[in-house]
Amino acid sequence: MTVTSATKVAIVTGASRGIGAAIAERLARDGFSVVINFAGDAASAEALVRRIEQAGGRAVTARADVADPAAVARLFEAAEAAFGGVDVVVVNAGIMTLAPIAESSDALFDRQVAINLRGAFNTLREAARRLRPGGRIVTLSSSVTTLLQPTYGVYAATKAAVEALTSVLTKEMRGRGITVNAVAPGPTATALFLDGKPAELVDRLAKAAPLERLGQPEDIAAAVSFLAGPDGAWINGQVVRANGGLA
Ligand SMILES: NC(=O)c1ccc[n+]([C@@H]2O[C@H](COP(=O)([O-])OP(=O)(O)OC[C@H]3O[C@@H](n4cnc5c(N)ncnc54)[C@H](OP(=O)(O)O)[C@@H]3O)[C@@H](O)[C@H]2O)c1
Repeated sequence: MTVTSATKVAIVTGASRGIGAAIAERLARDGFSVVINFAGDAASAEALVRRIEQAGGRAVTARADVADPAAVARLFEAAEAAFGGVDVVVVNAGIMTLAPIAESSDALFDRQVAINLRGAFNTLREAARRLRPGGRIVTLSSSVTTLLQPTYGVYAATKAAVEALTSVLTKEMRGRGITVNAVAPGPTATALFLDGKPAELVDRLAKAAPLERLGQPEDIAAAVSFLAGPDGAWINGQVVRANGGLA
């Protein structure tokens, strides 16, 4: 791939593994210079940079806990220092802890709100302040905002809030040529979904969609790639439910 000064720059939060890593790899293949954010697992983030570079792309890692507003500001500063500006931001970092509302602890609530909601807010605020004209913002919601199953209360609430932020920001970007959309995956084969679930439950959830399989991180990355690329230019303010038809 030829890297020129016109190469666009994408930040993907929570990109050391799972959906974020697939998005980073896909956007690098699409020609973006990519900033791979993570909070904990530096080794996986660095391995991803090496994979991208071996494929001819350009990427750097940037550690930042998205729950910390100062760290998120530094993440954008690092992107600007490495690549000269930011064109695309994918608000992907997230966690999921399931429990009935009656059994949800204060810590369960606070942690999911801090990372999923506060983290999305911190990232969207910096994106709104700094994105170059013509930029793209994609948030990660979840199909649970409409499925609303038992035990998903706090998680679904954080993702419904992310959709609200996404819709409001769409309107606030008027005049700057910046689109803002959400992608809402269904069950996708990552640690977040698979960890702690017995095989029978995974099988049942995989069969729930008419397409009768789990989403793969690459399926979600393809939807983000569309929204971040030239073919997605007219899609704005939408929630794309990338879930194999699960309803
Ligand atoms: N998998 C699904 O079925 C599914 C369905 C719907 C929506 N989603 C959403 O898709 C997004 C990605 O999920 P996933 O399934 O790929 O999860 P995952 O495999 O658990 O990966 C989560 C990523 O977020 C990073 N992260 C966690 N806390 C962070 C923090 N405070 N600051 C920065 N990065 C942080 C993790 O990196 P480190 O641990 O290295 O920091 C990791 O790279 C999430 O927003 C999730 O809610 C997933």
